[in-house]
Amino acid sequence: MKSEALPEYTKAQLALRNGQDRDEIWVAYLGLIYDVSRSRLWRRGNHYEHWAGQDLTKELRQDAPHTEHVFDNFPVIGRLKDAVPASS
Ligand code: HEM
Repeated sequence: MKSEALPEYTKAQLALRNGQDRDEIWVAYLGLIYDVSRSRLWRRGNHYEHWAGQDLTKELRQDAPHTEHVFDNFPVIGRLKDAVPASS
């Protein structure tokens, strides 16, 4: 699916998918929202002191011991409205 065809969600909508308020667990990275609900490593929205329901682009670059390839096994379910550009 082309990314322009994906539904757009606001930060407030993303924030509801933090693993606490709803069953869905979403994480935004480089403007795309990934559904990590089925990951055992994101249970209840928590992953090594990081919380789902947010844009974690900077955190992945700064803190993670792994690359963005960890997202390869998870579906992109939308785009984040007013996401921080990839270059910043
Ligand atoms: C202190 C920071 C972090 C630590 C120690 C950490 C650690 C890990 C470890 C050990 C794994 C297992 C697989 C692998 O190493 O490739 C993993 C997977 C993963 N991480 Fe992180 N991570 C951190 C931050 C982040 C951040 C900021 C994000 C999101 C932007 C993220 C997203 C993921 C995803 C999506 C997976 C795949 C989960 C799965 O396959 O079930 N991680 N992480």
